[in-house]
Amino acid sequence: GRPVFILGIETSCDETSASVVQDGRVVLSNVIASQADIHKRFGGVVPEVASRRHVENITLTIEEALQQAGKTLDEIQAIAVTYGPGLVGALLVGVAAAKAISFARGIPLIGVHHIAGHIYANRLVTELTFPLIALVVSGGHTELVWMKEHGHYEILGETRDDAAGEAYDKVARALQLPYPGGPHIDRLAHEGNATIPLPRAWLEPDSYDFSFSGLKSAVLNTLHNASQRGETIEPADLAASFQDSVTEVLVEKTTRAVKEYGAKQVLLAGGVAANRGLRERLSKRCEEKGIPLVIPPLSLCTDNAAMIAAAGYISYQKGKFASLDLNGVPGLPL
Ligand code: KG4
Ligand code: ZN
Repeated sequence: GRPVFILGIETSCDETSASVVQDGRVVLSNVIASQADIHKRFGGVVPEVASRRHVENITLTIEEALQQAGKTLDEIQAIAVTYGPGLVGALLVGVAAAKAISFARGIPLIGVHHIAGHIYANRLVTELTFPLIALVVSGGHTELVWMKEHGHYEILGETRDDAAGEAYDKVARALQLPYPGGPHIDRLAHEGNATIPLPRAWLEPDSYDFSFSGLKSAVLNTLHNASQRGETIEPADLAASFQDSVTEVLVEKTTRAVKEYGAKQVLLAGGVAANRGLRERLSKRCEEKGIPLVIPPLSLCTDNAAMIAAAGYISYQKGKFASLDLNGVPGLPL
């Protein structure tokens, strides 16, 4: 049939993003205005600052996305917007913009769950094969999701405390590395050896949940105890040991879920998918098990609107549209 062009909008955290995606598969544009440099000064995302920057950036970002795609609003069939979870003030900016365009132009509106977006970043790389297991690891989320078909999500496990990326950022801060610290720990880890004993939070034997706060505390204690004794800890070895613990638990639980649920594909998503240690370990395990693994390019792993448009396409096909009273929902369940 006729190609479907969806305008995606994402403002759930600190990236203002707009994108045009064709048929849920082909990225025509994916404009991302990052605020990372602003929040860096504060060592984390400041919600009020994020909202204000979204307001300043949103119109230009949408115009730029349309222009780069060579499209006008007349050629857009639907607008897909992240309406949760996320920072409420940040979500509202994207939702308000999407509603305004939808109302003014009479273009159908689609509400997208941010995690569904992260998962659908993979469909911009290759077709999905069901049933599948998706591991979503970012600064705000650590979720193991089972999907038996398009648009169907079942959370098998999630973090009970810190998200994986959050743990990386906190450990990085303890090592006096800049925010966001994930990439710095990743780099350090490759220069060190995982020789420092740290715990693995397996939780109950049948649980797919995660927990990273105990590991983070163990890292802080290791640093503290060493300084009390006047010893020095090699930061690269500590980073390597921390990364070894995080990736072992993530990969082993994912592998167990693949087996239990008979998955035919594994998807990795979220900002922590950039982690070299995680990519290598998961690739190796999936290879051993003979199961295809998909990892999107970095630009599609971190927050972006193309993934939102891709997920929105599934709702479009099902005719699942939102009304103009759509609201930002900070704790939206998947
Ligand atoms: O998906 P994302 O851009 O934003 C959220 O939705 O949270 O993820 C950002 C998170 C940050 O915590 C950052 O430290 C982490 O992803 N991250 C990494 C790496 N690159 C980014 N963590 C570990 N290793 C990396 N290479
Ligand atoms: Zn995200």
